[in-house]
Amino acid sequence: MNPVLDTIHQRTSLRVYKDEPIRPEHLQAVLDAVLRAPTAGNMMLYSVLVVTDQETKNVLSKTCDNQPFIARAPLVLIFLADYQRWFDYFELSQVPTFCASTERTWQGPDVGDLFLALDDALIAAQTAVLAAESLGIGSCYIGDIMENYETHRELLALPDYVFPAAMLCLGYYPEGYQPKFRSRFDQEFIVHSEKYRRLGEAELQSMFAELEAEFAPTNRFGAENMGQFVYARKTGSDFAREMSRSVRAALQIWQGSKP
Ligand SMILES: Cc1cc2nc3c(=O)[nH]c(=O)nc-3n(C[C@H](O)[C@H](O)[C@H](O)COP(=O)(O)O)c2cc1C
Repeated sequence: MNPVLDTIHQRTSLRVYKDEPIRPEHLQAVLDAVLRAPTAGNMMLYSVLVVTDQETKNVLSKTCDNQPFIARAPLVLIFLADYQRWFDYFELSQVPTFCASTERTWQGPDVGDLFLALDDALIAAQTAVLAAESLGIGSCYIGDIMENYETHRELLALPDYVFPAAMLCLGYYPEGYQPKFRSRFDQEFIVHSEKYRRLGEAELQSMFAELEAEFAPTNRFGAENMGQFVYARKTGSDFAREMSRSVRAALQIWQGSKP
C-alpha cells in the first residue's frame, strides 16, 4: 500500500489514552490539515472548538451519554456546522438592504444550509482523524454531542446558526496498545453500481449472518434476535430519542428565518 492507505487501514477508535498532553506542534499539524480539507464553495462552513479544559471535558463526559473516557482524553475537538460567520458578514455587507432594493427575499439560513455546513464539518473532522492517526494520535468520534442542544449551546457559547456536528476525543496511544479491528459488512451490500439496490430478505440474512453469530440470547433488553438487540441498544434507545429531540430543537432555529 502507501502511507496514506496504511494510516486509513491501521486506524481504529481509541478510547484509552496515554496520560500526556498533545504536543502543540502536533495539534497545529492536525489543524493545518483540517484547514486544507475540501469545503463547499470554499466558504469554510465549519468551526473547530479545541477543548482541553478539564471541567468542560467532565461536563461533556456526562452530557454525551455518560461516557467517562471523554474526561480522560487529553484533547477534545468539536466540529461545528457554522453559518453564523457568513450571516454576520451578510449583515455587515448590508445584504438585507440589497435584497429589499433588488426584489430578493432576505432570509436566515435554512435546513439546506445546515446540511451543507454539516458536510463541511464532518469532512473537516475526518481529515483531523487521519492527520492525527498519522502522528500517532488515536481518536474516537462522539455522536452524542448532537444531544442536549440547549446545554451544549450554553456550555460552548454557540450562537443560533452553529450546530455541533461531531466531537473527537484524541490522545496518544498507550504503551503496548493492541488495536481491535471491528469487521465491516461486505462491499457487495454497501457499494451499488449506478442505481440503488434495496436488499431482499435473502441478502439481508446473508449481510447480517456474521453479526448474528455474536448474538447472546440472554441479554439486558430481553431481545430474541440481533435486530431486536441493536434496535433496543441503538436506534430505539433513550439516547437516540434525545438526539432527535435535540436536533429538532436546533432545526426550529435554522428553519425560523430569523433575520
Ligand atoms: C458518527 C459517529 C459517532 C460515534 N459515537 C461514538 C460514541 O459516542 N462513543 C463511542 O465510544 N464510539 C463512538 N463512535 C465510534 C464507533 O463506535 C466506531 O467507529 C465503530 O464501532 C467502528 O469501530 P472502529 O472505529 O474501531 O473501526 C462513533 C463513530 C461515529 C462515526
